[in-house]
Amino acid sequence: MKSSLRQESRTSGEFDLLLDLAAAKGRRSALELALRDAIRAGRLRPGTRLPSSRVLARELGMARSTVSDAYSQLVAAGYLETQQGAGTWVASNAAARPVEEFEEPAPADPRFDLRPHLPDLNRFPRTAWARALGRALTDASDSVFAPGDPRGRPELRRSLTEYLARSRGAVTSPRQLLVCNGFCQGLRLLCEVLRERGARRIALEDPCLFLHPPIVRAAGLEVVPVPVDRDGLIVARLAETSADAVVVTPAHQFPLGATMSPRRRAALVAWAQENDAFIVEDDYDGEFRYDRQPVASVQGLDPERVVYAGTASKTLAPGLRLAWLALPPPLIAAAAVHRGLADRYAPVFDQLALAELIDRGDFDRHVRKMRLHYRGRRDKLLAAIRDAAPQLQPSGIAAGLHLVLELPPGLTEAAIVAAAQQRSIGLFGLATFRHGPFEHDQALVVGYGAPPDHNFDASVTALTSLLVDGHVTAVAAQTIS
Ligand SMILES: Cc1ncc(COP(=O)(O)O)c(C=O)c1O
Repeated sequence: MKSSLRQESRTSGEFDLLLDLAAAKGRRSALELALRDAIRAGRLRPGTRLPSSRVLARELGMARSTVSDAYSQLVAAGYLETQQGAGTWVASNAAARPVEEFEEPAPADPRFDLRPHLPDLNRFPRTAWARALGRALTDASDSVFAPGDPRGRPELRRSLTEYLARSRGAVTSPRQLLVCNGFCQGLRLLCEVLRERGARRIALEDPCLFLHPPIVRAAGLEVVPVPVDRDGLIVARLAETSADAVVVTPAHQFPLGATMSPRRRAALVAWAQENDAFIVEDDYDGEFRYDRQPVASVQGLDPERVVYAGTASKTLAPGLRLAWLALPPPLIAAAAVHRGLADRYAPVFDQLALAELIDRGDFDRHVRKMRLHYRGRRDKLLAAIRDAAPQLQPSGIAAGLHLVLELPPGLTEAAIVAAAQQRSIGLFGLATFRHGPFEHDQALVVGYGAPPDHNFDASVTALTSLLVDGHVTAVAAQTIS
């Protein structure tokens, strides 16, 4: 009998509240109890106007007199107040528990933000995005509101196919493209697809983005670290592993910054072919190349073996959570299934807006503008480092939004990162990205995308002072002794 009384009802009208009408005593008591609990718990705050007894009775499928009786009881008990013609509301002195302020202590951003993973959020193309979103909303047919293909909107997959062919030399088709919520999600679902096909081990560059090893492990696969050098991932070392797939950043190794040499690229593809393995090409910042023509994707060398992965996290903003995979045909169906299982598909209007942005040339214009912007910043930073600390040799400077400063003997990155923290300078030591047993230099990974314009010069000065002044020297002396 109790179950027949259990009723969850969302009331509409002046307020919207989930009432759990579970009680053994009868419908009036159940309603009274539910309202009293809501008031006590602070879900109904003092002054909140309740629906009329007629409206609530209709919504809950009760007699109006049952609701009126429950209201009267609660008025008598001091939880509610009522006035003829003015309705019923929660009493101002009802024993409501104060609602906790929704203020989570956000980790403070550093004052000088030289973290490598952030673009200049201040330059997000708000006007173009708003225009694209508006157009998408106006022009879209009603069918976009219905459930859709887990691979994403066909409009975006078409736009990306063309964009990737012309800008990254990727060979793909709308059928092979899958839109995901950032590369991190893409990596997770690729791992699931590969595991289902029998894969056990995934090779990752060492160092690599610190998120990638745990993502691979969370999918039940073993991580095999493979070292990198100035030509990128050392393919000969990869060949010593029995990895079923490898994740690489050939255009701009993250974080060291090497561009994979043509010979290594060929060797990498040969490795995949000989071992029936897959390559996941993480092209996270391939749009930002400064010193020569963009380096074409490895995927173009063998679209049957290479999954190309791109993201809007650097070109637009990580907060959009928009990325895409160009899949070899044997992986498409399973990837679509896993994408659907994850969260069905990416939010439709963001996808349509990105398609608009690409189709109308706004995306390319934005990337060109940002390339100049970041190149200018990189040059300023390099000049400042050269002036202040000529003994340091920045590397990985040809592309992307960060560079690497190898430290001279006697300096440890941990000490400098600690000193940077004291000065509210956000930067990372290479250790943050290491996950293998290999020897590494002591080095700092310095981003130049994040600071807003008004803070960029100050951030560069904060870094150079950190490098040259007595504090670093003192820290260095301490670490030597
Ligand atoms: C190496 C690397 N891969 C991929 C990404 C992009 O990840 P997502 O698309 O999940 O934001 C980043 C972003 O910082 C990155 O550094």
